[in-house]
Amino acid sequence: MKVLTDAMLLSGLLLAPSVSGSTGQTPIDHPGKPFSYVQPRNTSILTPYGHSPAVHPSPKTSGKGGWEHALAQAKEFVEKLTLEEKSWMATGQPGPCVGNVLPIPRLNFTGLCLQNGPQCIEEGTYSSVFISGVSAAASWDRKLLYDRGYALAEEHKAKGSHVILGPIAGPLGRSPYDGRTWEGFAADPYLTGVCMEETITAMQDAGVQANAKHFIANEQETQRNPTYAPDANATTYIQDSVSSNVDDRTLHEIYMWPFANAARARVASFMCSYNRLNGSHACQNSYALNHLLKGELGFQGYVMSDWGATHSGVASIESGMDMTMPGGFTLYGEMWTEGSYFGKNLTAAVENGTVSTDRLDDMIVRIMTPYFWLGQDKDYPSVDASVGPLNVDSPLYTWLYNWTFTGPTNRDVRGNHSEMIREHGAASTVLLKNERNALPLRKPRNIVVAGNDAGPITQGSAIHSNYEFGVLANSGSSGSCRFSYISTPLDAITARARKDGALVQTFLNNTQITEEGMTSLWNPELPDVCLVFLKAWSEENVDRRSLDLDWNANAVVAEVAKNCNNTIVVTHSTGVNVMPFADHPNVTAILAAHYPGEEAGNSLVDLLYGDVNPSAKLPYVIAYNESDYNAPLTTDVLTNGTYDWQSWFDEKLEVGYRYFDAHNLPVRYEFGFGLSYTTFDLASLTGKAVATANLSALPAQRPIQPGGNPALWEKVFTLTAVVTNTGTVDGHAIPQLYVAFPKSTPAGTPPSQLRGFDKVWVPAGETKTVTFDLMRRDVSYWDVVAQDWRIPTGQFTFHAGFSSRDFRANTTASFVR
Ligand code: NOJ
Repeated sequence: MKVLTDAMLLSGLLLAPSVSGSTGQTPIDHPGKPFSYVQPRNTSILTPYGHSPAVHPSPKTSGKGGWEHALAQAKEFVEKLTLEEKSWMATGQPGPCVGNVLPIPRLNFTGLCLQNGPQCIEEGTYSSVFISGVSAAASWDRKLLYDRGYALAEEHKAKGSHVILGPIAGPLGRSPYDGRTWEGFAADPYLTGVCMEETITAMQDAGVQANAKHFIANEQETQRNPTYAPDANATTYIQDSVSSNVDDRTLHEIYMWPFANAARARVASFMCSYNRLNGSHACQNSYALNHLLKGELGFQGYVMSDWGATHSGVASIESGMDMTMPGGFTLYGEMWTEGSYFGKNLTAAVENGTVSTDRLDDMIVRIMTPYFWLGQDKDYPSVDASVGPLNVDSPLYTWLYNWTFTGPTNRDVRGNHSEMIREHGAASTVLLKNERNALPLRKPRNIVVAGNDAGPITQGSAIHSNYEFGVLANSGSSGSCRFSYISTPLDAITARARKDGALVQTFLNNTQITEEGMTSLWNPELPDVCLVFLKAWSEENVDRRSLDLDWNANAVVAEVAKNCNNTIVVTHSTGVNVMPFADHPNVTAILAAHYPGEEAGNSLVDLLYGDVNPSAKLPYVIAYNESDYNAPLTTDVLTNGTYDWQSWFDEKLEVGYRYFDAHNLPVRYEFGFGLSYTTFDLASLTGKAVATANLSALPAQRPIQPGGNPALWEKVFTLTAVVTNTGTVDGHAIPQLYVAFPKSTPAGTPPSQLRGFDKVWVPAGETKTVTFDLMRRDVSYWDVVAQDWRIPTGQFTFHAGFSSRDFRANTTASFVR
């Protein structure tokens, strides 16, 4: 165990009052002339956004919402701390975990281990690789989300992590080019909000603190961090990080929405993001942290910085950030630098009165309350030594000789999770096309398996880079995993095919397929089916340059389909891909499996052979062409001013399907779409108000709780519908509810927005009643003048069906006069 001494606090940079004045706001001196590689901003639009007002002081936690007892314990603990100890606790230190708050043995505090990530224990040994975030969202299954989060947290806990750095609601998927959409959930705030809430509740039920990241408007990787002068000791920017410039209504209705669910789930911590928001760094943006998060959303836990996202001391602290990470040893751009804006500088700032003791105490109380609330002070597993060498966020030499591990190393924490992962893989794979009854397979005797994504990984089991050969079931950087085994499509298909005495021929080299063709196929007979496996990689810190599948995938499909009139395409992908091959008459079926984790092959075979009936739905839109998507990333700037990286969210609420619907644009596969081996119908949509009287337009002003005004979360309307399985196979239906707001709602309101869904098992020929409960927030828009959620007057239309473009029943209602 490492014991803290003042000398161990690494020497720091001067604690500057702030980057620019005491408000912590970084100036925007002009609206910028950004260059997006697809479409420049229309600079004739006068923007009401692009700056961020200062809001001080930082609200203090009161532990409301169920943390009151833990808060008292935290306060008692904080009373025993010295000033230096408090400063250390707010400052991450080198150690075996990705983030470390060091132990204080005299108080029996064993420290905090913060660990990535959203799909596994980052590169962890003897641990499971679960389905990815985007896969989990594609399941549209609350129970799956909960079970996944719980099991992931069980493994983290057994390896000694106190904090899981996830789940992710930002990026939300404003643009499909964002490199990290697979780590998050859906390009829709409602679905992502449900995913956040279920995952956080589950993780914390398992005793591990969750971390809602990356707050906020973190919608591109390009220029996520400033570029620094090479000699700069990390202080001189060449150009600052990109500023996401978002108007108030969009911020509330799109980007903040799922984070409100996170706060309501009483998430222990938030991670402020790398980008600037409306000109001010997210980690020193007092409007975002003090006003929105700790004020409006009533968040009671602590805000930690993303790694190296801290750009000031006092300004960040006064703006609401409570913990800097990785702290004493900080990543600036791509450069490790000793020192911290916090640490001993924080001690000095309290001593000279720049930061009040009150504020520092609140920071530590916020950090310690969830720890006590989850009982992490009692018998918590020690940190497994095996995680140390994998930690790239504080290099080994910075801590190894000061750290003593206890407990067994290389603990096997997998339990029987693989069974669940197999089920989850099948439940999250979306069937996009199925013609000529191609699926399920009926004992094919002559099978071709093609594509470099079908077989084993040939470059080690820890995922680091876009490898050519092997199935892609996870991707790179802080969300990357180590497979203790992987069920590949080739293994699983071969094992299954052997039962049928089938012939399995493999063509696993994309270059060979496209350059030499598949001539050996002509002996001895035409295949019954050709299964083509394609993949698309993307990772943190880099945005995608194309929405095509990788490794010349389109040409691979063309070649296979030329030889095989029953070609089934399976994709393992980060998210959106355009699929020019979808119209090919020989491509009879398409499955999007995203990144399904360690049971990739088995879970797919369960679907291919019909042991499981597909039920998953797209959590984003697949357009016909790349150029059909709006909201291009800012990938370059033509000017060299320090603050010139600007990303204008001019599309406002038109994110994802909202854009395509608003402009009536055709899409290949819409949001919420996915086929089954059966067919469903939905009818008799009826609604019933919870109260007999009309509702007030604005919510009653009730004391803020975690998640915000509790009146927003009150059930106001219940809809029911009847779902019938009209086919011959039992299966899960996923009925969805969309709302069209009345005409009185301000311009820019999307034509329809998801506000409910359910996953229901319906045997063939039977019917089930489904219920959608709407809360006040679901039927409100953010009124920028009232600064509140307003239910508009006039008639709402509710559409229920099986995708954002497949409505089967409608009903109307009005709520306010
Ligand atoms: C940066 C990433 O943005 C964040 O998601 C991750 O948790 C930290 N690095 C720590 O690895």
